[in-house]
Amino acid sequence: MVTFSLSFTLNSAPVHIAIEPNARLLDVLRDQLGLTGVKEGCGVGECGACTVIIDGETADSCLVLAASVAGKSVTTIEGLEQDGILHPLQQAVLDHHALQCGFCTPGFILSAKALLDKNPHPTRNEIKTAISGNLCRCTGYMQLIEAIEDVAGARQEG
Ligand code: FES
Ligand code: FES
Repeated sequence: MVTFSLSFTLNSAPVHIAIEPNARLLDVLRDQLGLTGVKEGCGVGECGACTVIIDGETADSCLVLAASVAGKSVTTIEGLEQDGILHPLQQAVLDHHALQCGFCTPGFILSAKALLDKNPHPTRNEIKTAISGNLCRCTGYMQLIEAIEDVAGARQEG
């Protein structure tokens, strides 16, 4: 079988892995690297469950050719917790009970992180725009928006 040798940075650590040349990033992350926080919902770029951050920008990993992240930095939900301490966005989602089944949650949190990294004090409309590519079938949108606002507000105060 023909393989492609892929080197990239994943959650701040270097990764070198042999992949199929046409593999989707979603499958490499889940099936080869065991990062099952990346979910497959629709598989066609509609639901945002497979969201990752690539060089600071969110991307639907179901639509990304894994080979295209060579030399880039990829962040998944598994990369947010540090030394056993949840990222503030993860904690805020818990505090606001902003999840039900949790299937969409990693994608929402990563979209929010990409927003706050670029714009620490977003308006509610900017938050809505940032998470507009993420769908929740359990209808938890308001709690998610409030959780993101809380983190942005805490940063403003701090
Ligand atoms: S699984 Fe990628 S956008 Fe739905
Ligand atoms: S919490 Fe179930 S899909 Fe969002």
